[in-house]
Amino acid sequence: MIESYYETDRALGEYLLFHFGTAEEILPYEFGPADALNYPVRCVTECLDASKLSRVARALDLGCSVGRSSFELARVCRHVTGIDSSSRFIDCAERLRRHGLVEFDYVEEGSLYKRGRAVIPSDIETERIVFKTGDAMDLPVDMRGFDVVLMANLIDRLSDPRRCLARMPSLVKTGGQLIISSPYTWLAEYTSPEHWLGGYSRDGAKVRTSEVLEKLLEPDFECVLIKDLPFLIREHARKFQWSVAEASVWRRR
Ligand SMILES: C[S@@+](CC[C@H](N)C(=O)[O-])C[C@H]1O[C@@H](n2cnc3c(N)ncnc32)[C@H](O)[C@@H]1O
Repeated sequence: MIESYYETDRALGEYLLFHFGTAEEILPYEFGPADALNYPVRCVTECLDASKLSRVARALDLGCSVGRSSFELARVCRHVTGIDSSSRFIDCAERLRRHGLVEFDYVEEGSLYKRGRAVIPSDIETERIVFKTGDAMDLPVDMRGFDVVLMANLIDRLSDPRRCLARMPSLVKTGGQLIISSPYTWLAEYTSPEHWLGGYSRDGAKVRTSEVLEKLLEPDFECVLIKDLPFLIREHARKFQWSVAEASVWRRR
């Protein structure tokens, strides 16, 4: 069986740096796109309307990876569940939750590495969070009624994104907020083309992911915000992926 990229040492270092690295570690060039840093935090702070949440709000972070958005959600939600299919990522997120700190290696050049430290801000109440392995396309039927569901950079990594989206009306409670952020990077290695939500032509017309998302969600959700969220993933000291996710926020009718 081929090992998923998200179970590898390389992905673990890359995502710990993406989620918890300092600006100096990730982007030590003053001419770089500094406004693309801190994406996992900005998915929460720039998209979630915290004023609509009760004191006992429940949040679900689907495809949480090593957990930075889950920790951020715990600032405003009493209960946070972070789910990811990678046991490597979930084990690491759980170690961070328990100990507040994890040391890791990230690529500098070729097989040279640097040592990094992921540290959870001390004002976050980590006992509010539960991390679990799971499949976003096959969630337990009794999982429902969340005030917030976040899917950051997940939909274009699922084999069947429609299956995951079909679960949203039962997952999000009335008035709750669904945040979907993605650069819509459709790749056959993750999603076979017949399951892509957009990024192809049909009968001579271009099919765009944002329009299909609206069609699928419209019956149960009202779109309340759409914005561009740039993000930067550092591959090594001199190579970066600069992307612009489209974040859309949906209120459950
Ligand atoms: C591109 S990463 C994004 C991670 C994180 N949300 C972020 O914005 O940095 C995609 C994540 O989704 C997870 N994933 C992929 N397929 C999944 C599935 N079916 N169910 C749950 N998680 C999944 C991967 O393990 C990985 O952590």
